[in-house]
Amino acid sequence: MKNVKIGILGIGTVGAGVYELLNKHRNVIGKKSGIDIEIKRIADKDTDRSKLLNIPSELFTTDADEIISDPDIQIVVQLIGGTTVSRELMLKAIRNKKNIVTANKALLAEHGVEIFNAAVKEEMELGYEASVGGGIPIIKTIKEALVGNQIDKVIGIVNGTTNFILTKMTRESLSFDEALKTAQELGFAEADPHLDISGGDACHKITILSSIAFHSMVDMSKVYVEGIEGINKKDIQYADEFGFVLKLLAIAERRDDGMLVRVHPSLISKENPLAAISWEDNAIMLYSDFLGKSMYYGKGAGAKPTASAVVGDITDIALRITSKTEYNKNSYSFYQNLRQNDFDTSRTKYYFRFSALDKPGILSKIAGILGKNSISIASVIQKETEEEFEHVPLVMLTHEALESDTRKALIEIDKLSEVEGKSIVIRVIEG
Ligand code: HSE
Repeated sequence: MKNVKIGILGIGTVGAGVYELLNKHRNVIGKKSGIDIEIKRIADKDTDRSKLLNIPSELFTTDADEIISDPDIQIVVQLIGGTTVSRELMLKAIRNKKNIVTANKALLAEHGVEIFNAAVKEEMELGYEASVGGGIPIIKTIKEALVGNQIDKVIGIVNGTTNFILTKMTRESLSFDEALKTAQELGFAEADPHLDISGGDACHKITILSSIAFHSMVDMSKVYVEGIEGINKKDIQYADEFGFVLKLLAIAERRDDGMLVRVHPSLISKENPLAAISWEDNAIMLYSDFLGKSMYYGKGAGAKPTASAVVGDITDIALRITSKTEYNKNSYSFYQNLRQNDFDTSRTKYYFRFSALDKPGILSKIAGILGKNSISIASVIQKETEEEFEHVPLVMLTHEALESDTRKALIEIDKLSEVEGKSIVIRVIEG
């Protein structure tokens, strides 16, 4: 059996999962693949981690260079978070002719081009399945199983924290703050949940996914991102009456004029298979020209699911390097240069909620502004409130409209003296 030595940088949650998996399944992986994967060294700044995980002292070091510069190590498993030290270590490892496996989505979303170029220059392999959808093998599926397809659209629930919070709000009628607190208590949200609830984490993931799906560089800074912090449980309830479920969706679409990539809270029909993806689970739906619609579902985070993806990549790369197949640089280069369109050009249906005075003529004023901006109303309901408020919720669904028109209309509506506060807008996603 061929032996491949690996080094692990960072033994946090995912690193511990990889260590556990390889200890448990090293023999079985050998039987299945013909490769003996041996952990030669593990580096982490925190020596307590080594004690906690009972890592033999001869395996452990606090010096990452001992891995990056070890001539025996062929694959560096880079599990350090952030984008500074992790970037430097990864580039140095590549220059030292190490193949890389990583779960660091922020690093790839922000510096993917630089890292891919470095890997191609040195003819090193780069595995990053764990960066999107945790254990769901979505990257391998797009790159290999669906290679014969043109992928036209990717719609994903790719952030477990926000999906957990929205599920909690929906099922238990909790406010955003209450649901977030429960998620934190149960360990489904970080103490600092900003990156997740702001949509930033989903943005990293759709940047990576869409660049692979469309074979085109995607600039993360041009991705439209809106998080779930402003979601009110009332809108989840009203939308439910229209037959919708609220999800944070990451969406990338190929269009005649290029592509559009975005992350925002979205209403989807209860019939849509994505509506059934609850709690911390993830799912990605692909629309491709020969296969048609397909969906990939599973655990998007956690030590074991993520380790599953990391070890899949390690084994895959170990097979490639030991079988001495010719290096395929196309795997890391983009052959298209699709224009990345502005979110203003998006066309979709909308859900609006206005808080308006319950007086004659108000609805026609609002409808007039919408009509003037080419927005056609599909249905309207005025919700009665139990409280004796002057303003009542006016909920509307529209036909498809242009985002830029919608923005213009809402600015005008929000200025009406009969309308209180800022109008609520949620995009309705079909398909
Ligand atoms: N914070 C991420 C999530 C998990 O909530 O889905 C890691 O990608």
